[in-house]
Amino acid sequence: MINKYTIGSPINTDAVVESPESQPIDSFPLKISVAEQTVIRFNLGNSDAVYGLGESPRGINKRGWIYESWCTDETNHTEDKRALYGAHNFIVISGKEKFGLFIDYPGKIEWDIGYSKSNEVRITLSGSDADFYYINGSTERDITAQFRRIIGKSYIPPFWAFGYQQSCWGYAKQEDFFGVRDNHRKNNLPLDCIYMDIDYMDSFKDFSVNKELFPDFRTFVSDMKSHNIHLIPIIDAGVKNQKGYSVYDEGHEKGYFCTDENGDEFECGVWPGIVGLPDFLNKDAREWFGAQYKTLTDMGIDGFWNDMNEPALFYSVKGLEKANKKLDELRSKEVDIWSFFGMKDAVLGVQNSNDDYASFYHNIDGRRVCHKDVHNIYGTFMTRAASDFFEKEFGREQKLIFSRASYIGAHRGSGIWFGDNFSWWSHILLNLKMLPSVNMCGFLYCGADLGGFNNNCTEDLLLRWLALGVFTPLMRNHRALGTRAQEAYQFEHTEWFADVLAVRYRLIPYLYETFRRCSDEYDMMFRPLAFDYPDDPLACEVEDQLMLGDECMIAPLYEQNKNGRYVYLPEDMTLVKLSGEKVEAQSLEKGLHYITAALNEVPLFIRKGKSVPLAKPALNTAELDTENLTYLKG
Ligand code: GLC
Repeated sequence: MINKYTIGSPINTDAVVESPESQPIDSFPLKISVAEQTVIRFNLGNSDAVYGLGESPRGINKRGWIYESWCTDETNHTEDKRALYGAHNFIVISGKEKFGLFIDYPGKIEWDIGYSKSNEVRITLSGSDADFYYINGSTERDITAQFRRIIGKSYIPPFWAFGYQQSCWGYAKQEDFFGVRDNHRKNNLPLDCIYMDIDYMDSFKDFSVNKELFPDFRTFVSDMKSHNIHLIPIIDAGVKNQKGYSVYDEGHEKGYFCTDENGDEFECGVWPGIVGLPDFLNKDAREWFGAQYKTLTDMGIDGFWNDMNEPALFYSVKGLEKANKKLDELRSKEVDIWSFFGMKDAVLGVQNSNDDYASFYHNIDGRRVCHKDVHNIYGTFMTRAASDFFEKEFGREQKLIFSRASYIGAHRGSGIWFGDNFSWWSHILLNLKMLPSVNMCGFLYCGADLGGFNNNCTEDLLLRWLALGVFTPLMRNHRALGTRAQEAYQFEHTEWFADVLAVRYRLIPYLYETFRRCSDEYDMMFRPLAFDYPDDPLACEVEDQLMLGDECMIAPLYEQNKNGRYVYLPEDMTLVKLSGEKVEAQSLEKGLHYITAALNEVPLFIRKGKSVPLAKPALNTAELDTENLTYLKG
């Protein structure tokens, strides 16, 4: 049962597709105070848990920290953070009383979940007008399914997007791409996609291709495709401000860029230097931007990743001027401790500054709206520009598209990836913990940068991470420029990688069917054990294992120099260790077990009475035989 309550005239975020009638706000079941900033408060029982908030830092149970809904270009995914790239305003309270709450509000929200007072949740909106959805249900999964129903079905990518994908900021020339392809093939390593990061563009201009690096791009794309490799270029939110660059000229002429307080184009810096920010919230501008993808789809491209769309601002022209002034002031002075910090803040503060987010404007159906009040839907509407265009032009399920920034609603047209993580062991666990939370908010096609984006990766880290990645719908190895090469063939035991990647392809029929079912039935592909075994207090506290589909449980290894880990079985299950074509099965009883797994093995737990289909290994999805399957039995 879902009740909706409305305060004022909220901005339409398009998050909800099936909206119930609004009830009078005085019947809202939680304490709510409506003023300049709407605040909701309620108490938690001592052992209540709070789930949700999608892509956010820390644990599965969100209790004991303060979070923010504010799409943030945050590269340090550490515990002190309050926000990452997504703003997913849905929580489920799980205690004697169970309910869900979705706040449809595109500005900043602070979620104090037992941070200030251990037994109190206090949710503060930066403004007042919003829609609130209060959801009653018998279980966490049922509450989530009811919510998912009103926000609409999740995006389904093309089948090949379930294959293994290799990415790297730094692949520039055609030869780099041929090398990645050939080295995978040579080493018996499957591969379906190679990503093109900003290096492929001409001067980082969206929808351009550097002609020196790719003299015949169309032939290059089709050559790769003839080897069953899809090339996936990146598109950034900012459009280089350069006269003579047709995308910029057209956008400028039509007034499709965001404006400053004086009505002039807002100027900020990202990869290409000064850019205009397309006003994706303006329907015409959105359609115009979406149509630009045609330049690349016409050349055979069938997948994209949309980046820097929080939007990430390295600086604004005005912010930089201010910082430079401050530095000029200090230039001739002796810098004492306070002016030193002042100087540091002035320089570091130019990036992603709140002052900048408060200083530019959108045109939403003729209404001028300050960016800070709609910040959290900017990336979503960029990605909608693309997905609406693809759907209109090519139909559903034809193109791969995923985004860095997102708000609920983006899940209908695209997937997400979890942004710039690190090659840290703790980030395997963070990757795992985020999966059920984003599934709750509709995002099924998702995954983290396997091996870690920042920092240098090691062989064992990548193998263990891939052993989790074999289960995530988006299975992409990606790293930053200047970090240690981390393609599977760069390491000593290439055959171990072949063993792990083979497991992915063996599982694709199962993962794909589970994925489709979860989209159709508004279900979660990954669930906390607490959702399936609410009466088992031990299961309810487990945060390093997940239920997968209705058949399995996963429990990846995430610590260095360990051959095994403790796993809690909430019921009798069969442990299977998968490696290449090898399958080793062992029945285990409910309870705590120490299980071991070699670096080339993927452990999977199958519930009693359930079975999981396995295909024969393949080197890409086009060659995968999805008909002749064998079955693993629990
Ligand atoms: C951002 C993206 C990252 C990409 C880089 C260069 O940091 O999150 O994935 O490699 O930009 O485009």
